[in-house]
Formats: sequence, structure tokens, C-alpha cells
Amino acid sequence: MRKGEKGILIGIVVFSLVMMAYQGFMVSRQTEEDPGIPFYSTASKELQTQASLLVRRYNCRDCHSLWGLRNIMQSVPSPSLDGMGSLRTETWLFDYFSAEDPQSILPSRLKQRFRMPSFADLPESERRLLAVYIASLKVEDWYLKETQKAEYEKLTGEEYTQ
Ligand code: HEC
Repeated sequence: MRKGEKGILIGIVVFSLVMMAYQGFMVSRQTEEDPGIPFYSTASKELQTQASLLVRRYNCRDCHSLWGLRNIMQSVPSPSLDGMGSLRTETWLFDYFSAEDPQSILPSRLKQRFRMPSFADLPESERRLLAVYIASLKVEDWYLKETQKAEYEKLTGEEYTQ
């Protein structure tokens, strides 16, 4: 083979490799399309407005994030409320908010001042409204499964096969 021919051959090989890589890249981009934000609420506009007032009045965001937001000065390691309605029922939430000692329902590993406070003193209508609203905060199934899988694999170090 002459020098010039070798150069052309190498050129063709390199070109094919680049094309293959480019195609692979395009395919992976198509299959890994961003599925969007997995959180949504089934609450009516009116319920959302009323609930937002309570969430603000009782400073839930001092400790919890909701719609991805929380008060920036706080760093309490408490669960996010996004998607909570896929984990807890309205009845459970109402009982929880009504409990004199919420930790008797859900034990806490945190220092006293970081724990979920009791909202038993609130009027029943407000506890009810919070329960209905939080129960309306849902998360898409695929996200819940992915989260469960990631949690499981992190905790056990084994592959999740369900
Ligand atoms: C002082 C911080 C703080 C405030 C304020 C607070 N929470 Fe909590 N909350 C927590 C912590 C921490 C937990 C986890 C349980 C624990 O450690 O007591 C929790 C648990 C919960 C849970 C149960 C989570 C689960 O995993 O099932 C819900 C629902 C909840 N809070 C809603 C609210 C709402 C609604 C408000 C406002 C009306 C609020 N919280 C205000 C700290 C707080």
C-alpha cells in the first residue's frame, strides 16, 4: 500500500468512527429524554390558596421544602412535603397534625427543637385543610419507583429487582 492510500484509509476509518459515535449520541439523547417534574397536586385552586396561607402562617417551610422551596436560612433535615400524598393518607395526616405528641406516631432521631411540632391546638378546620392539601401532593409512579430503587441500593448495596 502506498503512503497516500494509507492516509485515505485511515481517514475513512476515523470518519466512520465519528459518525457511529454521533449516531449513538443522538439515540441516547432520544431515549433519555427529560421526563419532567414528577410532582403535582390534585387540589383545586381555592384549596391551594387557603393551604398556602396556613403553610405560611405556621412556618412549615422553616423545616420542610414544598414545591422544591424552603426558607433559605433553615437547615433542618426534615422530609420534603412534595409527593407526600403518595405516601400518607388524609386520615393519617389529620391524626398526625392532631397528635399532642407527633413522635408517638412517627419517631424522630432529631434534637427536640428540630422535630415536628404538635399542631393539636389549631382549629379542627385548619388541621383538616392541611391534611386534605398535603394528601393532594402526589408524585408520579416512575419517580417513586426510581427513588425506592436508589434508596434500597444505597442502604443494602444490592441490586433492586422488583
Ligand atoms: C421545627 C421544624 C418543623 C416545622 C415548623 C414543621 N415540621 Fe413537619 N416535620 C418536621 C420533622 C423533623 C419531621 C420528621 C419527623 C420528626 O423528626 O419529628 C416532620 C414530619 C412531617 C410530616 C410527616 C412526614 C412523613 O415522612 O410522613 C408531615 C406531613 C409534616 N411534617 C407536615 C408539616 C406541616 C404541614 C407543617 C406546617 C403546618 C410542618 N410540618 C411544620 C419538622 C417540622
